[in-house]
Amino acid sequence: MKDKNSISNTIKVATAVCLVAAIIVSTAAVTLRPQQEENRNAFRQLNVLQAAGMYERGMDVAAAFERIERRFIEFESGEYADLDSSFDPIRAARDPARSRSLEQDPAGIGRQPLHGEVFLARNEQGELTRVILPVHGYGLWSTMYGFIALEPDLNTISGISFFEHGETPGLGGEIENPSWQDNWVGTRLRNPEGELVFRVDRGRTPEGVPDADYRIDGLSGATITANGVQAMVRFWFGEQGYGPYLRRLSQQLNSDEVLI
Ligand SMILES: Cc1cc2nc3c(=O)[nH]c(=O)nc-3n(C[C@H](O)[C@H](O)[C@H](O)COP(=O)(O)O)c2cc1C
Repeated sequence: MKDKNSISNTIKVATAVCLVAAIIVSTAAVTLRPQQEENRNAFRQLNVLQAAGMYERGMDVAAAFERIERRFIEFESGEYADLDSSFDPIRAARDPARSRSLEQDPAGIGRQPLHGEVFLARNEQGELTRVILPVHGYGLWSTMYGFIALEPDLNTISGISFFEHGETPGLGGEIENPSWQDNWVGTRLRNPEGELVFRVDRGRTPEGVPDADYRIDGLSGATITANGVQAMVRFWFGEQGYGPYLRRLSQQLNSDEVLI
């Protein structure tokens, strides 16, 4: 009779168990990928609505999102671009043909896609109420991904949301804290001279400072994350980011010309 406890038998059983486990895990990974992608997309949509101040608990996110217009832009010219709806700027940033490496990289993103996406919210009369722009930048441990919504003056922040980051909960992770995010509402990016002076303070913004409109409170014990957030905002709203697009959009809003 064969010895069930022989070394060869043990190896055979162990190999069979490994194989079955590997097949189960890889099948699950492959079959769940579309669902994961869908969930990720739904969560991004929720965060666009949240930044725009249009999110309410329990709402049908997909239905609410239908009121938002998603467009693509070319960063350099600021013009709208005609791209396939499956375009993903983060994926494009990994493709050398669709992105550029940054010499000046204050936000720590390495490569920037040549095109981006913007979200426009309008009221019943069709007037622009919010422009919601995706932003990302490096904190202490991770790239932080979020959305910043602007008022129709294209300078006043009306809301912010972060949907992905790996900063430490309770420290850098406080970027998700609604009371810190409330601090952003009404803060402006540029002064009347057009300079991008937005900043994240170290600690609380002192009372009564003349430039308080452009400053938000820092994150206690997480100055490195806070500095990353400031660099991210300055990069994306500057000349390399949405600057050219916002200029064009502002001209269009002030002249009523159709921007295509
Ligand atoms: C375990 C651990 C996790 C930390 N996580 C963060 C973080 O997510 N973001 C951050 O800016 N600082 C984090 N820090 C603190 C930084 O090392 C650094 O001390 C801090 O950013 C300085 O900010 P402060 O001047 O406000 O104290 C962490 C420190 C430790 C020990």
